[in-house]
Formats: sequence, C-alpha cells, structure tokens
Amino acid sequence: MTTPDYAEKIPNNVALHEDRRLQRALESWQPNFLSWWQTMGPTLPTQDVYLRTAVNVGREGWAHFGHVPMKDYRWGIFLAEQNPGRRIAFGAHKGEPAWQKVPGEYRADLQRLIVIQGDTEPASVEQQRNLGATAPSLYDLRNLFQVNVEEGRHLWAMVYLLHAYFGREGREEAEELLHRNSGSADAPRILGAFNEETPDWLSFFMFTYFTDRDGKYQLGTLKESAFDPLSRTCEFMLKEEAHHMMVGTTGVDRVVERTAQVMVENDTDDVAAFGVIPLPVIQKYLNFHYSVSLDLFGGETSTNVANYYTAGLKGRWLEERRKDDHVLADDGIMVDAFVDGEIALTEVPALTGLNTDLRREYIADCEGGVKRWNRILAEAGLPHRLALPHIAFNRKVGAFAGIEVSPTGEKLSAAEWERGKGQWLPTDTDKTFVRSLMRPVHERGKIAAWVAPPRNGINGKPFDYDYVHLS
Ligand SMILES: [Fe+2]
Ligand SMILES: [Fe+2]
Repeated sequence: MTTPDYAEKIPNNVALHEDRRLQRALESWQPNFLSWWQTMGPTLPTQDVYLRTAVNVGREGWAHFGHVPMKDYRWGIFLAEQNPGRRIAFGAHKGEPAWQKVPGEYRADLQRLIVIQGDTEPASVEQQRNLGATAPSLYDLRNLFQVNVEEGRHLWAMVYLLHAYFGREGREEAEELLHRNSGSADAPRILGAFNEETPDWLSFFMFTYFTDRDGKYQLGTLKESAFDPLSRTCEFMLKEEAHHMMVGTTGVDRVVERTAQVMVENDTDDVAAFGVIPLPVIQKYLNFHYSVSLDLFGGETSTNVANYYTAGLKGRWLEERRKDDHVLADDGIMVDAFVDGEIALTEVPALTGLNTDLRREYIADCEGGVKRWNRILAEAGLPHRLALPHIAFNRKVGAFAGIEVSPTGEKLSAAEWERGKGQWLPTDTDKTFVRSLMRPVHERGKIAAWVAPPRNGINGKPFDYDYVHLS
C-alpha cells in the first residue's frame, strides 16, 4: 500500500508519480473535468462549504473536514487497501488469484461496466445542479454539495481505471463521460433514471434514498470483481456512498415528520394549505423514484450478466456470505415474469436470473426505509402508512415494460392506467405545488417550514453551524 500523496496535483494513493505517462494523461484530463464542474456542476455561487475530503483509506481518519471553496476541492484517486492474497470468489476462475491487469478476453466487457458506472456519477451532479438555489437550510445545502463533490470523485475513480488499464480507448471513454449530459437530446446519459430531472428537494431526498441505493448495490457487485483495482476502487466508493444514503433516509424522515406534525396539530390530512407536503404526494414521489430505480437493475433475465458472473467480472451482493458453490451452473431461481397474461414467477437458470437476485436484495433494503417512515407516522399517532408499490408498477425495463399495473399489483387496461396514474405518480399540479414550497432558507440555524430539522449536524457540529458561506 503506498501512502497517500496529498501534495500532488491529483491527490492519490496509487503512486501516480511512479507512472509519468499516466500522471500526464490524468493531468491533462483534470482541466476538462474542472471546466465540466464549472459549467455543469452546482449553480449557486458560494465562497466555501464545510466539506469532507477523502485523504486516506484506513479504518480511521480517512476523511478531513473543513471549509473549502468548491472549485478548489481536492478530488483524488483512492483505492481501498490491497489484500495481497486475494482470490477470485466466484465463477469459472474461482480460487485463482485476483487479476492486477485486465485479461485480454474480458477487456471490452470490463470497460463497458466501468463506463456505465462512471456515467451515473457526473449525471447526478448535473441533475442536482440547480437545487442549491432552493435549499431548505445551510445544513441541507452542505449535504447537497457533499454528495455532488463525492460523485465528482467517483467519476475520478472510474476515469483513473479507464486511463490506467484501457489505453487509448479508455482515454476516449473518459472524455465521453464529460460530453454526455443528463437529459441532453443529442448525447444523454446512458441510463434512463439519470436523465430525469431532480427539480425539488423532495425529489433529491427520494433520489438519494432510492437511486443512490441502486448505486450501492451496483458497486457491491463490482467490489466482488476479479479485476482487483476495480474491486478496491468500489470498496472505497461504498464508504462515501453511505453518507449519500443517510442524506436520503433522514431527508425523507424529516419530510414525513413535519407533515405528520402538521396533520396532528390541525387534525386534518389536507395539509397543503399549511405549507407542508401531503402524505399522498410523498407516496407518489416514492412510487416514481422506486420504480425508475428498479429499472436500473435491468431485465429479470440477462445472458450478459450471466456471462459477467461466470467470467468473474461482477459478483453477487455479499458474494462471500452466500452458502452455495459460487459457480451456479446447476442452480435455478424463480424470477418475476409476465406469463399468459398474468404477473407470475417462472424458473430460469440462476445465472441468467442474477439481475433479479440483486433487485431483490435492493427491495429488501428499501423496505427498511418504509418501515422507518411508518414508525414516524405511528409515533405521531396517525393511522396512515407509506408503502413500496408493486414490482411491476411503472416499469419501463424488463418483463413488465409492456403492461400497466397499479401500485397494489392489479393488471390494468391502457384506459384504466390513464385514469389512475394521476393518483399514483406525481402530476404537474403536485410538482408545481412541491416546487412552490421550495423557497430558499440560507440563514444560519433556520429551516424551511415543510421539513423538520435534523437530529444531528455533520461531524459533531450543531445544526446551526455555518456550513456554507454564500458569496
Ligand atoms: Fe457515486
Ligand atoms: Fe452517491
């Protein structure tokens, strides 16, 4: 393990100075990254922000907190510590030493996996770029920027791999990662959910809960990769990702808490007039973000993913904790399917059903959030509950892409869907209402009326700390 070099132009723990060619290539990508950040990154002008910066990868003290101007943020390259004896845990190469170089036969597939992951990182920064102007508090504003700079660092993490291991093609892909833009008509981001806008803070909290959580599961499968540098990169990214999900989890907590409070105080469900978000609107946002995030896991069956697994490129969530042969050649799995006009299950080989396996891990995790939010409602003495919609609801990818299904799982005709969808997904009226609440509160220690303050601040600081200095 090389000690982190923080004085370099590009902070890193990969001994970048020992490979001048690579260092020069990354240093010539750096200004392109910075100009992307200036044009596509956060639009609210700030002097400085109380941010966490990765400086090391050890168990303790991996991050430094302090006020920094965002344009001077030290985006670095950090891989988790190498386990020198690491062996491949699954697939046809199970038991062989992990790869330190890219095997020729898997080069194209590995590059593709890295590009797809890399594409999501700057996409979310683009989606969230205007949110600073309507932040409900300086604490929330700081969290938004923290998520943004770390997604920028995750782009660096993927670009490092492309530059270091994929030659000229890798360098070209690294440029493309800055050229595609979220929602662009000519050059959109690769995955659908990353071309949706994040126009308000309820969307931001739902995005960081549901869509960043998809990222957690994707990174979890890449962390198992036989390609060791990819594995180590993803392991460290997961550490940062935990904070993004905390922002989502506690963000939705606080919205639900505030709504519940106003419902109880005024003894009504109809709280829009009191300037908070009604529970049915929260449910619609949840339905939307959950269903588009389910699509990110791909089709229920996939031969590509089966091949990735067998090749050792991408494992399962917590692969080493699974009690099976880690080859899966003879196993089966029941996957969600649409059979003879019915929503049903069908058995397929375990390998081709791996997307379903991962999506189920994700769904079980998402249920944890709903439980939390329902506990908040129960503690407020309210009978109302939130719920995850049915797996087939509002799907554009996979077995249910061609049918319409209600949140409770009834198959619907096109006309029934048209009639019902306004009750299940945010309407223009809902979005306009939510947006009307998004008036900025940029005053220290103050918070917008539609959201409760957090229980804790950041890094032991109080809620009323001066997290951001605006310019
Ligand atoms: Fe990320
Ligand atoms: Fe994230």
